[in-house]
Amino acid sequence: MILDPAEQAMLSGELGRATQKAMQILVALGTIYGAERMLPVTSVQVAGVSFDNLGEAGLQFLNEMAEGGGQACVHTTLNPAGMDLENWLALGIDPEFARQQQRVIAAFVRMGVIPTCTCTPYLAGNLPGFGEHIAWAESSAVCYANSILGARTNREGGPSALAASLTGRTPAYGLHLDEARHPGVTVEVEAQVKGSEAFGALGRAIGDRLQAMEANPVPYIRGLPAASLEELKAFSASLATYGGAALFHIEGVTPEAAFLSAPVQVMRLTQADLNSARGLLSDASPEEADFVSLGCPHLSIKEIARIAELLEGRQVVKEFWITTARPIKQLADQLGYTASIQASGARFAVDTCCVVAPIKGRFHGLVTDSAKACYYAAAKHRFKTVCLPFDEVVRAALGETGGTR
Ligand code: F3S
Repeated sequence: MILDPAEQAMLSGELGRATQKAMQILVALGTIYGAERMLPVTSVQVAGVSFDNLGEAGLQFLNEMAEGGGQACVHTTLNPAGMDLENWLALGIDPEFARQQQRVIAAFVRMGVIPTCTCTPYLAGNLPGFGEHIAWAESSAVCYANSILGARTNREGGPSALAASLTGRTPAYGLHLDEARHPGVTVEVEAQVKGSEAFGALGRAIGDRLQAMEANPVPYIRGLPAASLEELKAFSASLATYGGAALFHIEGVTPEAAFLSAPVQVMRLTQADLNSARGLLSDASPEEADFVSLGCPHLSIKEIARIAELLEGRQVVKEFWITTARPIKQLADQLGYTASIQASGARFAVDTCCVVAPIKGRFHGLVTDSAKACYYAAAKHRFKTVCLPFDEVVRAALGETGGTR
């Protein structure tokens, strides 16, 4: 790789041990993927924040980087932690876990990383523009940033995202380059797709088929004339989970689609395909589930307003976690939504989510609207799952079942 003088200075250790280590990580990555140079980045999202995933070895790496003088030199935000950083005790988190999680956050803060603790950084002040080179970890956010915002990032891991933050650079390969952003398959959607649950099921239907294709092509999707922010975040999370996708284009919806043509290879997606993908997301009934959660990816204020409306004056009968970013929760506080929600017995689990929190063994079955949460709740916590439309999830928490899609 050709490095400019500033990059060479970082690599030789002139800017300290942590910056040197960070540049070594990026050079190694760039060499593996055939990058010829580095690119400056304007924004970073770091994942690998929950102590449940990091463990002692991950925490040690972070402390070494902080002690080595590592400092974020671009706007850098954090993925969810393993607990609500303020209200962890009430949510049943073990004090020893909380102590370790606080050490993780302290190491990031010491390096100048903003502890947003959300997987929707674009709702919490980290909103890159079209064509900007960024280095984001968190697969759902990566897919959203590339596809909906038109920014450019590979699927970074925790260490490579942190390395980009400490150097302001990322290797120029993959989705930073035009050629990797071209679609390879046209997806004709011939189904009714409305709401976060349906967009999640669509992500699974397309994702499963992309995984079975050679080279996992970027899809160019037609037949979806409009989609809300909430539907697009659900779709991004699901397609990233089931298809390993980091980019999609939707005709008339995503910004780069306007400059691209539909590939000749076509995949048809019918109502039957959508329903069959939907069926794969549930293996229990709402009555069997003992845990309900909304907010994967983290909720928007519009979604919280809807939950407050549905819970007003009612009492939930199951443990119900509402997961979002702290700035969004603060807005919910101001608007009175928090009071209505908490009066119902539902709880906010801010800074965290039902996947990264250490809740294996505490519950047995999860009701959610999120295809991504279904995958990870089963894989990580061994929960049974029930995937329902958004409003029906709230009704399940209230003990009302049998709604219609
Ligand atoms: Fe976010 Fe947790 Fe889902 S990090 S995308 S809410 S698994």
